[in-house]
Amino acid sequence: MKHVLSLMLVASGAMLGATVAVPSLAADAPPRPKVDAAKGEQLFTNGDAARNIIACASCHGPGGNSPGAANPKLAGQHAEYTYKQLVNFKVKEGAKTPERVNPVMNANVAGLTDEDMRNIAAYLGTQALKPAVARNKDTVELGQRIFRAGIAGKGVPACASCHGPTGTGIPSQYPRVSGQFAEYTEAQLVAFRNGTRHNNVPMAEIAGKMSDAEIKAVADYIAGLR
Ligand code: HEC
Ligand code: HEC
Repeated sequence: MKHVLSLMLVASGAMLGATVAVPSLAADAPPRPKVDAAKGEQLFTNGDAARNIIACASCHGPGGNSPGAANPKLAGQHAEYTYKQLVNFKVKEGAKTPERVNPVMNANVAGLTDEDMRNIAAYLGTQALKPAVARNKDTVELGQRIFRAGIAGKGVPACASCHGPTGTGIPSQYPRVSGQFAEYTEAQLVAFRNGTRHNNVPMAEIAGKMSDAEIKAVADYIAGLR
């Protein structure tokens, strides 16, 4: 209970911003260093050769605005979500595989400390997203319908019910999805469906009910959503 209480305090403190020092009630939990977005920017932009950490910006672009669909955009994403993903790319103690399998990112997070991951996540949350665009006119209507209303008869809920009407998500609970490259969104929905990404039960259930055509349509629609 003591532990749960301190976790709740930390979570609510984190939402108030980086300047608030959060007291820790549990005697066994040392106080966490303050989140430092400037340190996060430095590590994201330049990496750290001494620790064998490649510059994240070399793939994800300056400020996390990846210029090409091979790597997802990270700019403007909620810090809590980004932090969680970085943790999920690591192999948990006692587990064989990470909750989110991707050989490139599994290697990239290996050298990151908990503090590094919080700093980078905070930095990316301050960056303005330069959004991608939708490209497929033929599927926009289907994509929009799925996003706004789900798929009747298949038990697929409206994406908007969690990710918000414009796909910007809700900080700490639901990630921003709008303006992301369609290729990346499609790959994630497929990864949720086949279990390569097993870090969220509702998303696995939702994607598990969707056909390839439905996934492609909603992914393209989301890329153009503002
Ligand atoms: C060699 C290219 C490369 C480098 C370097 C790289 N990434 Fe990635 N990153 C990727 C790819 C590709 C993905 C998509 C993974 C997938 O499909 O699951 C990704 C995914 C991510 C995600 C998940 C995004 C989301 O919306 O869920 C985060 C967060 C991330 N990277 C952060 C970082 C950070 C922080 C660093 C530096 C320490 C870094 N990346 C370095 C290629 C790279
Ligand atoms: C019940 C709430 C809920 C609904 C409904 C929902 N999502 Fe999600 N979605 C989430 C949560 C929570 C996550 C973050 C999972 C994690 O922690 O990795 C997520 C993650 C995602 C991601 C990964 C984002 C990234 O950057 O990697 C995509 C893409 C996504 N959802 C698309 C959709 C689409 C498309 C729909 C509608 C068909 C949908 N979601 C419906 C809750 C929901």
